[in-house]
Amino acid sequence: MILTIDPVRLGSALALSGGYLAMCAAIWRARASARRSVSTGTADWLVVHATQTGSAEYLAERTAETMRTGGLSARAACMSELDAGALGSATRVLFIVSTYGEGDAPDSGARFAAQTMGTTPNLSHLHYAVLALGDSSYTNYCGFGRALDGWLAAHGATPLFDRIEVDRGNGDALAEWQHHVGRLAGTSDAPDWEAPGYGDWRIASRVLMNPGSAGAPLYRLGLVPLDGALPDWEAGDLAQVSAPLDPDHPREYSIASLPGEGELALMVRRQRREDGSLGAASGWLCDHAMETDVIKLRVRAHGRFRLNGNAARPLIAIGNGSGLAGLRALIKSRIDAGKGDNWLLFGERNAAHDYLCREELQGWLAASRLAQLDLAFSRDQSTPRYVQHLVREHAQVLRSWVEEGAAIYVCGSLQGMAGGVHEALVEVLGAERVEAMTLEGRYRRDVY
Ligand SMILES: Cc1cc2nc3c(=O)[nH]c(=O)nc-3n(C[C@H](O)[C@H](O)[C@H](O)COP(=O)(O)O)c2cc1C
Repeated sequence: MILTIDPVRLGSALALSGGYLAMCAAIWRARASARRSVSTGTADWLVVHATQTGSAEYLAERTAETMRTGGLSARAACMSELDAGALGSATRVLFIVSTYGEGDAPDSGARFAAQTMGTTPNLSHLHYAVLALGDSSYTNYCGFGRALDGWLAAHGATPLFDRIEVDRGNGDALAEWQHHVGRLAGTSDAPDWEAPGYGDWRIASRVLMNPGSAGAPLYRLGLVPLDGALPDWEAGDLAQVSAPLDPDHPREYSIASLPGEGELALMVRRQRREDGSLGAASGWLCDHAMETDVIKLRVRAHGRFRLNGNAARPLIAIGNGSGLAGLRALIKSRIDAGKGDNWLLFGERNAAHDYLCREELQGWLAASRLAQLDLAFSRDQSTPRYVQHLVREHAQVLRSWVEEGAAIYVCGSLQGMAGGVHEALVEVLGAERVEAMTLEGRYRRDVY
């Protein structure tokens, strides 16, 4: 993926009521675990994160570690676990939140933003600070962090220090946060928060995946470290590439392969800016970099899009375009573990040019490594057909997979696809079930 700085049949009334009870139980379990994990915690300090691609979670873990180094009891918690009740009993909370969409909360903060922030609690008992992650090239820079800070202050909470805004991982801003946290913890002996350095890689192979496409060219790059030793990563993780022309602004791509395959594979769409020039990173990776050039790359764990607790669950993988990268790695990982209950719903433009990984997918289907493969090629008929249409067309099968415990993973475009798929899932499964699946970590998205 490209980043500029994340889902058989109901035949009878019995099955229906069973499904309803299962849904209620799932919601209850998810909510009970949320209440348990936040309100009965004994930590003096809560470090709450709302993240899409993991930066805020990473920083929350580091922050809680620093507090503990100073002898305080502190723990990191996801904002999806925090409700008005938990906030009513907490006295010291550090918030680390990113911003998506048009100044919106990331998925894990969406419920808090929509529900809790719509209430008017008395927060005069609460001391807090906000670290807002964002990218100043967006109109609503740090929009969610600012809105959260404003809401907390407006309801009587006392800031420990001014909100700190982090533009594209800016080191000075992070150092300022670390300084404040160290002071609160009474320690300057803070663990190192530096992101791991870039490694030296080279391009071992570069193949155009969509010759003749009406869209921009999409390349499959096979990368290997210069010293030959592949780092470890899991399906769902990301690779950050620093482009020579714009080294301070790493681009993130979903990793399409697994270490066992001997190379780190990316699917990179060559971007053109409005003035016709090539994107700094995609142009470098797709056009300019030679096999002899050093590619500065590092792997970033993306816990929210890993299989984690979902490894044994049937997998519904939904996406479009270069989003196939992340989905391919997840499916491959399950295939390697001997699991064939994988269902891919994928959309692109034209079957003739954009049927990415055609041979591999058809081979997996023939070998029952993929249980089902559904494709929507938007431009192959007069009325556009997208992957969200597939979700609606296969509503009954989808409900039945979910009844059997399936997890839903969505990867691809935020514009159009992610929202369209989400709406279709809400239509097919119901809003409560989608929310419960989000809380349980059974509905995960890596959209960009
Ligand atoms: C699709 C997309 C939309 C974004 N929208 C905004 C935005 O409106 N405002 C902003 O400040 N940052 C925006 N960002 C930048 C993220 O907030 C920033 O990269 C942040 O560091 C990500 O942190 P996380 O890994 O914890 O989710 C956006 C990033 C992406 C990929």
